[in-house]
Order: sequence, then structure tokens, then C-alpha cells
Amino acid sequence: MNRQATIDIENRYGSGLYGHQPIVLVRGEGARLWDADGTEYIDCMSGHGVGNVGHAHPAVLEAIREQAGRLAICPNGFYNDARAALIEALVRITPDGLDRVFLCNSGTEAVEGAMKFARVATGRTKIVAAMRGYHGRTMGALSATWNKAYREPFGPLVPDVVFVPYNRVEALEEAVDSETAAVLLEVVQGEGGVIPGDAAFLRSAQELCSARGALFVADEVQTGFGRTGAMFACEHHGLRPDLMCVAKAIAGGVPMGAVLIGPRVGALPPRTHSSTFGGNPLACAAGLATIRAIEAERLPERAADLGARLRAGLETIDAAVVREVRGLGLMLAMELRVKSFPILAALAERGVLALPAGRMVVRFLPPLVISAEQVEAVVDAVSAVLSKESPDG
Ligand SMILES: Cc1ncc(COP(=O)(O)O)c(C=O)c1O
Repeated sequence: MNRQATIDIENRYGSGLYGHQPIVLVRGEGARLWDADGTEYIDCMSGHGVGNVGHAHPAVLEAIREQAGRLAICPNGFYNDARAALIEALVRITPDGLDRVFLCNSGTEAVEGAMKFARVATGRTKIVAAMRGYHGRTMGALSATWNKAYREPFGPLVPDVVFVPYNRVEALEEAVDSETAAVLLEVVQGEGGVIPGDAAFLRSAQELCSARGALFVADEVQTGFGRTGAMFACEHHGLRPDLMCVAKAIAGGVPMGAVLIGPRVGALPPRTHSSTFGGNPLACAAGLATIRAIEAERLPERAADLGARLRAGLETIDAAVVREVRGLGLMLAMELRVKSFPILAALAERGVLALPAGRMVVRFLPPLVISAEQVEAVVDAVSAVLSKESPDG
């Protein structure tokens, strides 16, 4: 199907919920993407942080092929070798104490699961979340998502969610009380503008939860699997959450999510939650191959190294429209004095596909396999685009 036919069909029959760049992506390899006309791009999106191991990773591809030919469907009422191998690997690589796993299919589902587990485990209802936080679009996760434009059309939402300013310890101290089931936080806020959490804030969230009988839930949906320069961003601050939500990069592009469950949660009442597709062998095989590739290729270390280079390169750009460069590992952002969408379109013209994170922020989430040369090319493209911009638009 050619470029225009693809665009026409998606415009006619798609949900209409997404804005589109006028580019039809048809192929990827490593950190490169190609469109329907054969134009090549450097990927600084990874599909919103999904493709940490890069596109078409041979080991992930082989695992999917092998598992699809053997057994792709296995209900949760039966044991399965691929599922067992994946949950064992997840328990091994996640922070100490998280030694049970609920498997699902996306980030928002992982957050829904964690919210339900926190309520049933504590017998309490209140959830403390952060301003500018993002946890997904289903009703529970949406209730804990800050952006009013996402929430307001759908009220009444799940009650008893309160928001505190991110990185403000005193606000947390006031909000967490004897009614609180959970404090739900991103370790680096992603959609909210790529804002790293302070160690003091995150550690006090954990300590307040443990002192006041609540559960500390880390949302590592975007930060997980090497993205920030550690396997999980919790490691930067020595955090040991009671529940941890992961998804996105977990299975190399195959939809999957998971909730890691710690000892303070206690036993979950049987049959209180479930998912038909959760833990299906195909996604599990892809997940195991992805985790093995992240470890074998030392992708967290690579994200730290290449992230430092990308950040240093972005910081050297001398353009009046740049307000700030921030982030952790290969989760980086440039806050601008101008709107991000025209900048993203100009970057695409120069062969770099990046993401917004709010109206004035350009976000870089490249596959962790991006090369030093590709990082340089990204910096050159950003520099060329921003040098043409003036803060007055
Ligand atoms: C931190 C965080 N939590 C949850 C989600 C929701 O994940 P999904 O889009 O897979 O439902 C996202 C998605 O961007 C996210 O960044």
C-alpha cells in the first residue's frame, strides 16, 4: 500500500483520537526507521519508550517466531514454561523484595492492577499521586493522572485520589495519612515533561508509606528496562517499592505489562483480578529474550553513557529558544520557549523523529542501542533546527 492510501485509510477509519505526523513508517532496524518512500530516520521515540533493544532485534524476533510455532495461547489456569521463565527473570532483575508478578498487557493495566492490589491489601481507598504525573487512560489510572484535559471529560472518576506537587516533601507528609492505601509516583515524570524525582522526595514517599501503613507504588512504565541508565530508575535512589508497575519496553515491542509485588502487600485474595491475555506465552517469550538482550548488551550502562553524550551535546546548543535540558540516561528533554510541534516537524525534515512531552518540551527516547554517531547526528539536527528559531516565534 502506498503512502497516500495508508494515510487516507487511517484518516477515514481510525478513531480520530491521535494527531499524526504525515509520515508512514514501514520498517525499522536498531535505532533506524524508514518511511514508505524509503526515507531513513534516526528514531528518538522508541514508540514512546517501547523499543529499548531497538527495532527488529534478532533474538527477540527468533523467540517470537519459535514460541508462535510452538504455543501462543495458554490460559492462566495452567502452568507454562515461557511464563515461568519470564517471571523468574523479572523477579531477578527488579529491586529486592519484589518477588511475585501479575502479568497484563499495558502500562495503564499495570497501574489499575497496582491500585486494586493496594486497596485490597490495605483495606483503605485513598491514593496519593503527583501533579504532572501520568499513569494511563483507563478509569483508575486516569483518576491518578494529573492533566485535567485527559480527566475532566470522563468524570466522575475513581474517588479518593489526591495530588501533591512533585518533589515537595512537606506536601507528601501532609497528604499521607491513616486512610492512604498507596502513594503512586513515577521515578522520573515522563509525559509531564521529563522531570527527575528528587532522592529526598522519593525516599520520603517510601518511608511515609512504611510508617503510616500505606504502600509505595513506583510507576516504572516509562523508566524501566535500562532507559535511565539503570535497569530500573528506583536503583538510582536505593528505592524498594511495595508495588512496581512496568510495561512498554518489557517485551521488545510485543504488548505486555506487569505488576511486581512485594512482601508488605501480603497474599492477594484469589480471583480478585485477572487478564485473559496477561502472561500469554508469545509475549512472555518476547519478554525473556528482551531481558536477556538488555543484560547481554549492557544496555543500562549504554543508556548512561550515550545519555550523557546526548545531554552534553544538547547542552552545547547555543540557541535563544532553549530554556533547559534535563532528564536521566536516555530519557531526555529540552524545554523550549517556543511550541514543540513545529520543532518536531522540522526535525523530521532533517531525519530525526522525536516526541513532545507537553506543549513546549521536545523529548528524546531513542532505542538504547543508538550509536555515538547517531547521537552526534541528532545533536547536529537539533542545533540546525533551533538556530533558525527566535523566542518570539
Ligand atoms: C509512567 C507511565 N505510566 C503509565 C503509562 C500508560 O501506559 P500505556 O500507554 O501502555 O497504557 C505511561 C504511558 O506513557 C507512562 O509513561
